[in-house]
Amino acid sequence: MIYFDNSATTKAHKDIIDTFVLVNEKYWANPASIHEFGHQTNELLQTARTQVADVIKTAKEKVYFTSGGTESNNLAIFGLANKYKHRGNHVLISAIEHPSVLESAKELQLQGFNVEFIPVNKEGFISLDSIQSLLRPDTVLVSVMHVNNETGAIQPINEIATLIKSKSRAVFHMDAVQSFGKLVVNFEEQQVDAITISSHKIHGLKGSGVLVLKGSTEITPILYGGGQEFGVRSGTTSVPLAVCTAKTIRLANSNLEKNSMIMKSMTDDIVTFLQTFSSIKIISPEIRAPHIVSFSVRGVKGEVFINGLQKEDVIVSTSSACSSKQTKTSHVLKAMHLEDDYIKGVIRLSFSHLNSEEEVQQFKKIFTKVMNVIKGD
Ligand SMILES: Cc1ncc(COP(=O)(O)O)c(C=O)c1O
Repeated sequence: MIYFDNSATTKAHKDIIDTFVLVNEKYWANPASIHEFGHQTNELLQTARTQVADVIKTAKEKVYFTSGGTESNNLAIFGLANKYKHRGNHVLISAIEHPSVLESAKELQLQGFNVEFIPVNKEGFISLDSIQSLLRPDTVLVSVMHVNNETGAIQPINEIATLIKSKSRAVFHMDAVQSFGKLVVNFEEQQVDAITISSHKIHGLKGSGVLVLKGSTEITPILYGGGQEFGVRSGTTSVPLAVCTAKTIRLANSNLEKNSMIMKSMTDDIVTFLQTFSSIKIISPEIRAPHIVSFSVRGVKGEVFINGLQKEDVIVSTSSACSSKQTKTSHVLKAMHLEDDYIKGVIRLSFSHLNSEEEVQQFKKIFTKVMNVIKGD
């Protein structure tokens, strides 16, 4: 099988699975228990927290282990808007956010916040001008994703952050689910206040991730109970998942440059190949993450290609895993005003450093064959 759907999920590293089994076998106490076994388990949890904090350059008290990207995004949107509502009730969200941000923001709207959506241009980039004109003295929260999961577009996060900080008192949340481990980031300098990371997108385990706050940023919980995770996320913390998340984050971060070069070389090659077909439009912009290539075949539905490729054991997806099972058109492509001829035919190839050059060459052959059958040329 050739698996080019790594933005939907990645295969967990064997090392990470082994760690999960080991921690479950040896340190299965409740980390909040006051006996020695609980204490030892808690030490492991705190080490994992410190490891994540060291990568993101923040205090360990600002690292909250969650069930993944969706929960971290929900926590960020509700928790930050509510924490700072004494400053105002205006919230800005980009129009191309993942549903876990978008739907949370729509819910905030129902709760009385004034939510506005930042538009994007045809290439899927947010313009600094539109943020500048939307920012207000009562803006409490801005949330913009680093890399879009459907197109790979990299948003100008540092410029956006500088603008927000110079024009308002808003806190800035960044969904880094598709960028962490793919793009080099100087976390020390980056003026982002809250960051979402999901483990299963970087060869970790599904159902785990973190929300990390920077500096003096604070947050209101969305889950109440025993007050675990510094009162921010109640519920017995899964130490095995936390340890694996820390290990996944460290691995992704330390191999970042090497891995992203491997992915970039594969996606560059694929883009050059796809450009030889006159009916294909590359949707991913030039400033894109190294692992995503999204394109559309004029007049052909994405599902037709996915099924054709699947018969040849090649796994790809439509624009995103979330929208691929739904018949409705992607909100990202709509926000980019993609032409009708192309909007239903978007296919996303997403790579991991574990993919190989041979797979890319094999893909080209299979794709040409499928294209000939489907287009009949
Ligand atoms: C940009 C982005 N944010 C958030 C998520 C949700 O992450 P999780 O699957 O860990 O809930 C995804 C998953 O596809 C994503 O691509």
